[in-house]
Amino acid sequence: MRTDPLTFLSAELDALQKQGGLRRLRVLEGGQEATATFDHRQVVNLSSNNYLGLTTHPKLRERAHDAIRRFGVGSGSVRPIAGTMEVHMELERRLAAFKQTEAAVVFQSGFTANSGTVSAILTKDDVVVSDELNHASIIDGCRLSRATIKVFPHKDVEAARRVLQTLPSSQRTLLITDGVFSMDGDLGPLPDLCALAEEFGCIMMVDDAHASGVFGRNGRGTIDHFGVHGRVDVQVGTLSKAVGALGGYVAGSRALIEFLHHRARPFLFSTSHPPAVAATCLAAIEVLLEEPQIIDRLWENTRFFKTGLRRLGFDTGASESPITPVIVGEAALAMTLSDRLFEAGVFAQGIGAPTVAPGRARVRTIVTATHTTDELQFALDAFAKVGRELRILQ
Ligand SMILES: Cc1ncc(COP(=O)(O)O)c(C=O)c1O
Repeated sequence: MRTDPLTFLSAELDALQKQGGLRRLRVLEGGQEATATFDHRQVVNLSSNNYLGLTTHPKLRERAHDAIRRFGVGSGSVRPIAGTMEVHMELERRLAAFKQTEAAVVFQSGFTANSGTVSAILTKDDVVVSDELNHASIIDGCRLSRATIKVFPHKDVEAARRVLQTLPSSQRTLLITDGVFSMDGDLGPLPDLCALAEEFGCIMMVDDAHASGVFGRNGRGTIDHFGVHGRVDVQVGTLSKAVGALGGYVAGSRALIEFLHHRARPFLFSTSHPPAVAATCLAAIEVLLEEPQIIDRLWENTRFFKTGLRRLGFDTGASESPITPVIVGEAALAMTLSDRLFEAGVFAQGIGAPTVAPGRARVRTIVTATHTTDELQFALDAFAKVGRELRILQ
């Protein structure tokens, strides 16, 4: 009889379980809403990236239905063969206008936008200078490119400068940062990094996945928030979080976008968005432009909840965005806090190493525009009660 060649995986899983690192998937029953039902329990949902509530916005639903009726459910091909539809082109034109760049290209996800772009524009002769907390998709793109990877400590612009000083002036170098860091909710130091990129002649790239729809005028992102338009060569955004649907995009010069059409492997070798997804994203851009009060509401909720957590005495790190971590230290404590909150009616995911540094485990909270003050107060009361029971609070 053949022995199972994958038995080593079970051993790895056992080891993970012993370290408290095994995660069960929570199953959502119904829509991704501010209060939602996961695993048969109704909870205040502080774990979704649906910042603006657009996953269930009537205008987006209607456009998706309309696109399905007119064009069917799939695009049927990769973009460079037969999978480019007018709705894809229109979305890219609108994204470029929104981001104030010459052009834009849409990918299947923010992940493939990052990994496909970095690996396309760099070769093994190039260097990437990257913040240590940049997203996994950037790290994978760097690895795929086979460029030399130089990591600088989180947000440490002087350390990045010291790295750049060691490189020959002719060295092609990409300087790359997240706009909003996904686990800590703090912002990349864009103005200083842009100045560094200009001084050393680097390509400047920003991953604005958590800033799209959240920061800047009408949610144009951190480039708009910091007023550094024209100084970031490669802007990545996602359509999967605040925009409410699925996808990622790169905005930049016409030459960059045309090059990605020819060299970015996810664009070349993976089927394009169903037309309903592209149509939904177009509707989302209209909502950002026509209903900016939703973004204002997101920020009111963010201030209310963040202030509440800090007043209770939790360590919320250096967050500047709707992502607020509650840092507790050990992974086991973070997972217990998350489980106990869930029992108390609040879903806030526990996160430990290797996603965050050892000793910096946390539950991560994200408020949305659609939470009511009552829901957020309910969540704060649960945090206070469970935090005291677990002696995280005095
Ligand atoms: C900083 C950052 N970049 C990129 C991505 C990937 O985006 P998407 O979910 O659209 O693939 C994420 C998603 O978790 C993220 O947090």
